[in-house]
Formats: sequence, structure tokens, C-alpha cells
Amino acid sequence: MDIGFDGKVAIVTGAGGGLGRSHALEFARRGARVVVNDLGGSIDGSGHDDGPAARVVREINDLGGEAVANLDSVASPEGGAAIVDTAVQAFGRVDIVVNNAGILRDKAFHNMTPDLIDPVIDVHLKGAFNVTKAAWGLMREQGYGRIVNTSSNSGILGNFGQANYGAAKMGLVGFTRVLGIEGAKHNIKVNAIAPVAFTRMTADLMPGLEDKLKPEMVTPVVVWLAHADCPVTGEVYSAGGGVVARFFIGLTPGIVDHELTVESVRDRFDAIRDETGYTVPANNGDELRKIFSQLT
Ligand code: NAI
Repeated sequence: MDIGFDGKVAIVTGAGGGLGRSHALEFARRGARVVVNDLGGSIDGSGHDDGPAARVVREINDLGGEAVANLDSVASPEGGAAIVDTAVQAFGRVDIVVNNAGILRDKAFHNMTPDLIDPVIDVHLKGAFNVTKAAWGLMREQGYGRIVNTSSNSGILGNFGQANYGAAKMGLVGFTRVLGIEGAKHNIKVNAIAPVAFTRMTADLMPGLEDKLKPEMVTPVVVWLAHADCPVTGEVYSAGGGVVARFFIGLTPGIVDHELTVESVRDRFDAIRDETGYTVPANNGDELRKIFSQLT
């Protein structure tokens, strides 16, 4: 194992089971000291249990690694601060935050009520804000940080019954891209994954795929994105079962029409949508440059 994390401190939220547990174990195996955060609720976020986080800490200790449990919820600014405080109290610093905690409250949009919307946004999207915000100042001061957010193809591509979850998960893509830009001059790199794995969250959707889609086949991507040598920021990687790929936002060449009317948009809609020769703008500036170059 030549990719190590000696001296580094990693926070993994929702690390009491599933993907988060697998990430936490791998960081610890490679020498990081780990905060195993998990409030131990059910899939829909109700209830709590000290057991899952404590069990993963024990597993890490059994491997000879160092870890501490934290039971706070990511869903409030106070929770986020307490999670980061646990890392600072136990280990003196924070180098890595993996925003992984998550819940599901699926429902077709016409039946979706606020009790199904707010908690999902609070855990996935605001949860990442809350924990990252608490760590961000420390990372800026030390001139080093790695953040990995957990997005989902349900948001990037869309999935029936997940308007709440999909919006939160695509929100995390925007969060990742903006923080990638803001963190650049402080050597803070921020990326995201869109995982596919058999966990308690997806067991019903993936019958028989437990062996093919192990969380352990997603974790290497997360751990690499959290390493000092990883060169990229603001990017999103798809990972499942050992298949790893990059999602990106493409922009079609489109049309230029100085007399644009509703009718010309209709008549040239196929050309507007044509993906031939698309580009992948790295930022707003790239898109604006494309627009101006087409105008002149
Ligand atoms: P999981 O249910 O095993 O793990 C989620 C963990 O987050 C649980 O241990 C839960 O107790 C914890 N958690 C929930 N709310 C929390 C809160 N407020 N504060 C702290 N911890 C909290 O499910 P899985 O699959 O491991 O999910 C991990 C992440 O991956 C989630 O963000 C999920 O949305 C995302 N994801 C998973 C996919 C999959 O195929 N398994 C697909 C796409 C995204």
C-alpha cells in the first residue's frame, strides 16, 4: 500500500454502516485517524442508536487503527460544529471530510409533503454545509484540506419518487463546484462521488447484487479523492462494483442568431440540442468566453 494517510485526520459522516463504514475502515487501514460519525437512525432518519458508530470504532481498533465515535446529527450547524470539535479534541486537526450521511423519504412529487422534503434536504445538502463549514476555517488556516461529497445518479440523472433526494444530491454538485473554486488557493480540494452500492438503503432495489456491488468497490475512489496527491477539484465520479467513470456537464455548440425569435428557437431546436462537438466548460468564465467568441 503506497498511498498512506499517516498524520492525517478524517471525518466520515454516516460511517456506522454501508458506504461510510467502508470508507472509515480504509482510511484507518492506511494510517489516518478517523472520526466515525453516525447517529444510528433508520433509513428514513427516525430514531437513534449509539451502536453502529461504536461498532465501527471497535472494528478499526481491532485492525490496530485509531478512531473515535461521534453521535451528532449532521443536520444542524451545532451538530456539524460538534462533529468537527470531536476531531479537534481527539486528534488536534481535520484534514479530510467525507460527507456521506444520508436518509431516504421517497414519494411521487404529487404526494410529497414538507415532512418528506425538509429532513432530506437537511441531512444531505445542509448536512454537507454544516460539517464542511465547521472544518473550512481550520483547513484554510493549515493550507490543506480534502472534501468528498456524496451525490447520486438520482439527482444527476433523475429518478422517479426522489424529487427531495435528487434536488439535495444535485445541490451537492453545485456545492462541490463552488467550493472547488473557493478552496483552490488554500490547497483545499473538493470533489464528489455518485456511488452505486448494495447497502441497507438500496438492498430492496438490488436483489442478488450484494456480492457484485460491495461498498468496498466504491471506497478506493473516495480515498484517492481524499489523498494529498489527487490533482482534481470540483469534479464528480461515478463508482459502482469496480466501474469508475467521470460525470461532467457538457455544453452543445448550439446556434447563433442575432435576430432570435420564438419561431427560430423552434425551427432550430434540433441544432441547439445537437451534442456533436460539445465542450466541458471548467467554470463560468469558460462559458462566457464561448458565448463571446460565437458572437464575434
Ligand atoms: P446507509 O443507510 O447504510 O448509510 C447512511 C448512514 O448515514 C446511516 O448509517 C445513517 O445512520 C447515517 N445518518 C443518517 N442521517 C444522519 C445524520 N443526520 N447524521 C449522521 N448520520 C446520519 O446507506 P448508504 O448506501 O451507505 O449511503 C451512504 C451515502 O451514499 C448516502 O448519502 C446515500 O444517499 C449515498 N448514495 C448511496 C447509493 C447506494 O447505491 N448505496 C447511491 C447513491 C448515493
